[in-house]
Amino acid sequence: MRKNNQTYIFLLLAAITILHQGCDQETYAQGKRLYEAHCENCHMEDGNGLAKLIPPLQNSDYLKNNQDKIACILRHGQNGKVIVNGIEYNQEMPGKKYTAVQITNITNYINNAWGNDYGVTSLEQSSISLQNCK
Ligand code: HEC
Repeated sequence: MRKNNQTYIFLLLAAITILHQGCDQETYAQGKRLYEAHCENCHMEDGNGLAKLIPPLQNSDYLKNNQDKIACILRHGQNGKVIVNGIEYNQEMPGKKYTAVQITNITNYINNAWGNDYGVTSLEQSSISLQNCK
């Protein structure tokens, strides 16, 4: 009887782990879909941007070092001078009324696509950032 219980708990934990991973993959996939629909035409499929007009997201020191600003950039856009990997850009990026969930998923996609390794953000972190947009 005792052994059966252990087996049951083990199976339950295994199921939770698998479901949890599936969930992570799904949010990453949603981030990718949103990126393809809303970002790719400027930042390009490979995240390399476009010459001196659109900054790169792939291997971007700005993205890596300004994680607390990303949620606000996506929602409210960005303009004025920005320096990415030593190159100055000064164009306008339009914002969009993405939900906090969408912003979290897009952020996790661009942080981990194309060889980027800038960590994983949570819905809670994105929501806090969004409350503090300037
Ligand atoms: C109309 C073109 C356009 C679209 C669409 C667009 N961006 Fe941008 N993005 C820009 C430009 C231009 C800048 C630089 C703005 C400046 O000069 O201040 C920028 C800057 C950024 C930056 C900060 C600089 C960097 O390269 O690290 C991030 C991050 C970013 N965009 C992510 C995104 C994401 C994610 C999306 C889709 C949700 C998106 N952008 C959609 C044009 C665009």
